[in-house]
Amino acid sequence: MGGRTCLTIVLAAGEGSRMRASRPKVLHPVAGRTLIAHVLEAVKQAGGAVAVVVGSGRDDVVAEVKRVLPAADIFVQEEQRGTAHAVLTARPAIARSADDVVVVFGDTPLVRASTLQQLRAPLARGAAVTVLGFQAKDPAGYGRLITGADGLLAIREEKDASDAERAITLCNAGLMALAGDQALAILDRIEDRNAKREYYLTDAVAIARNMERQAAVLEIEEDEVRGINTQGQLAEAEAALQLRLRAAALDAGVSMTAPETVYLSADTRLGRDVVIEPYVVFGPGVVVEEGAVIRSFSHLDGAHVGKGARVGPFARLRPGAKLGSDVRIGNFVEIKQATVEAGAQANHLTYIGDARVGAGANVGAGTITCNYDGVAKHRTDIGAGAFIGSNSALVAPVKVGDGAYVGSGSVITDDVPADALAIGRGRQVVKEGWAKRLRAALPGGKKNTPPQR
Ligand code: UD1
Ligand code: CA
Repeated sequence: MGGRTCLTIVLAAGEGSRMRASRPKVLHPVAGRTLIAHVLEAVKQAGGAVAVVVGSGRDDVVAEVKRVLPAADIFVQEEQRGTAHAVLTARPAIARSADDVVVVFGDTPLVRASTLQQLRAPLARGAAVTVLGFQAKDPAGYGRLITGADGLLAIREEKDASDAERAITLCNAGLMALAGDQALAILDRIEDRNAKREYYLTDAVAIARNMERQAAVLEIEEDEVRGINTQGQLAEAEAALQLRLRAAALDAGVSMTAPETVYLSADTRLGRDVVIEPYVVFGPGVVVEEGAVIRSFSHLDGAHVGKGARVGPFARLRPGAKLGSDVRIGNFVEIKQATVEAGAQANHLTYIGDARVGAGANVGAGTITCNYDGVAKHRTDIGAGAFIGSNSALVAPVKVGDGAYVGSGSVITDDVPADALAIGRGRQVVKEGWAKRLRAALPGGKKNTPPQR
């Protein structure tokens, strides 16, 4: 931005009471990421110093801010007395007088870094305030932008607006940029003479005009600046973000026959030639490498899928699942905190947790790693090229050596040496004629006679 310095203030102290939820509004997720994390990611990309205003006692919000942007300065707004009051809790940061001060709301998660930068451009040309505006399909709840022959004159909050002003559809997105050398002079003049008895940041526009300074509007698409106040708006933002993420994935060479049924996270990374069948859900932290296929009804969360691997249908990859190249994970297989090395397979009905499955190993249907003894988790290690017969229970901690075989239906409690065969079940017992004798002894009606051949 032409070498101009910038301070971005993120407001996140509001109660969010319209969500009717116990968690703070900015910690609700869209596309696998909290609202505040979306905003902070955009702010981080746009560059400059960052201050975040949080409500008192909001340790959970502070923790999330620190996780995403450890360098951010945190200010606590003890009482929620309006958006201008919130901005002024960051007074020490504003007093360091950056060239530009940008205010963004923690409940506007779809905003892009490029928009934050564009908002600053009029300041370089001498404006004191720039406001982000949009044509609202339904303006209810938004502040209206009052414009005249020479630009933006004022912003009127809905509760204070006349009928004529309410008919205006050009609305305030909430984002504002202020000239750093004017910011405190403007903010300190804001009063609480309005319907809500709050200090409205939006009054900055009329005040700047009274100070004979220019105020500008940057108009953008509604989708980018949806403010989230209700669960309904949260769901709408999710839908808008999914459209964006799917379009980006298709552009990057991912094949999806029904993209509208695929749910991505903001950080989902999909390589070239990846194929995603209908109805797949990606939680946060998933990477899928080139040429892998994710089949229908699979759920992936915190997982890494290697090149050319095939997952699903109906597979569940939980955090810490790492699949090497060409691995096959089939239906009703759950993997958690486990590395499955190149070319290994678990094709049906299996749980692999806290484990390593060596390259080329074959895990038969119904195999379970018994990783939990009721107190602690233990590891299972399956060697390269090992073969685990169907319906086996591997009671951790346990190791199956390279190339070893485990007989079907085994309960394996001791380590199996490489290239050995372990059978962990009693021998089969056969009693000739037993069933026939049983039937003969039963009273007539209870006889379960086999069909005559
Ligand atoms: C605000 C704008 C409105 C705009 C809309 C866009 C004001 C007065 N109104 O209204 O013009 O159309 O956003 O979405 O600015 N906050 C604090 N402390 C407070 C009050 C609010 O930190 O004391 C934070 C909230 O957490 C939220 C943001 O500021 O992130 C906006 O507050 P909110 O109450 O949602 O304002 P709106 O009524 O939506
Ligand atoms: Ca809002």
